[in-house]
Amino acid sequence: MREDRGLGNLSIEQQAWQALEESIVYYQGQPVGTIAALDPEIAALNYDQCFIRDFISSALLFLMQGRPEIVRNFLEITLKLQPKTGQLDCSKPSRGLMPASFKIASFNGQEYIKADFGDHAIGRVAPADACLWWVILLRAYVIATQDTELVEREDFQEGIRLVLELCLVTRFDMYPMVLVPDAASMIDRRMGLYGHPLDIQSLFYGALKASLELLTPIQSNQFMIRAVKNRLDPLLKQLREHYWLDPERLNVIYRFQVEEYGEEALNQFNIYSDSIPFYRLANWLPEAGGFLAGNLGPSQLDCRFFSLGNLMAIILSLTTEQQSHKILNLIELRWSDLVGQMPMKLCYPALENSDWQIVTGADPKNRPWSYHNGGSWPVLLWMLTAAAKKMGRGELAHHAIAVAERRLVQDQWAEYYDGPDGRLIGKEARKYQTWTITGYLLAKELIKNPDHLKLMTFVEGMREER
Ligand code: GLC
Repeated sequence: MREDRGLGNLSIEQQAWQALEESIVYYQGQPVGTIAALDPEIAALNYDQCFIRDFISSALLFLMQGRPEIVRNFLEITLKLQPKTGQLDCSKPSRGLMPASFKIASFNGQEYIKADFGDHAIGRVAPADACLWWVILLRAYVIATQDTELVEREDFQEGIRLVLELCLVTRFDMYPMVLVPDAASMIDRRMGLYGHPLDIQSLFYGALKASLELLTPIQSNQFMIRAVKNRLDPLLKQLREHYWLDPERLNVIYRFQVEEYGEEALNQFNIYSDSIPFYRLANWLPEAGGFLAGNLGPSQLDCRFFSLGNLMAIILSLTTEQQSHKILNLIELRWSDLVGQMPMKLCYPALENSDWQIVTGADPKNRPWSYHNGGSWPVLLWMLTAAAKKMGRGELAHHAIAVAERRLVQDQWAEYYDGPDGRLIGKEARKYQTWTITGYLLAKELIKNPDHLKLMTFVEGMREER
């Protein structure tokens, strides 16, 4: 075990760096990614794979450390895995999709890469977030290295175009958001996120903004550049207006007219007041707080708070400055609900009783206040830190890091925590979970050098600390 190797004398950060080093995956002698978890005590299942979404926080750290090769190798490998031709075979992944994860396997002594597009995953869920993260990471790589040669290569330009094609071109939808199946993101089990979940929309917005910077003005890109430009404004408007919930907006929704037909409709989504938990929300939402709702669709406004989507919205400037502050106010004023004993809740509140049965399919891993359903995930610490620093509210980040530091090493970098206050190590949580380690390290690095925020943000310069 690690303790036996004398790690006890190392600081928390040194232990974390060492654990990150041990998680690196090599292909033909080159570092190409990091595995999800290195827990010696539980069956690996697919935790011995490199997940695209999990690698993002590792990648940002490697970029900050001046070790871009591993990120470059990762980007090249995953790009090669992306299907480039249309498929008539429904068992094959769609053109443009990026895998959820990959692993290095060997056959006859030869290493090869085996990808999982959700075709092996539990529930066979398609990872819609992977291609969006990929574009966002590619931009971060370019910012960190100034290596424009890589992104200008035709294979990379084609890769970006195919991601955009998947999101922008053919679709069964009339909204500017991107339509995805349930379980298509970090929350990769059924959780009522079918349709237009916020977590995906925030990443979609970031990927669209990033691709406008990354696509070169060559002829073959013109159609996609136009498609992105056409989509950005309506998407932004929709998210800022129709996903937004604060006390004032809540009152508007409370008094909505319904069954409106035609272009002038105010209640475009035909939301019925009775479907909104007004009294709970009116109690919970502080006057100075607000947030983006979890999902929006026909007669559906999911009022759960999803951290990833809200924090990434702040980081990517998807929310207005005032909205970003209101989200952080909410986190500050509802600290015990949203941060509690471990930063921070993946979503709040948990689905309970018949809601849990119906919406999750009675999934025992996602029972109330566990795992995705109201569990707490340390990886979110870096997003909280980035969002707080960006808005000049570093004190929130310091506080959250101090809370996390009390537990992370002692709990051997657990994957997630359970309970309404996040006090229990997750029932099925892995130990030595890489994105728990990197979530912590990234938060520390962002505090030490807030200039690193530029890898993810789209605004010029930094705001003053309050
Ligand atoms: C679980 C999580 C998913 C993560 C994977 C590897 O499936 O739900 O978000 O990518 O583990 O850590």
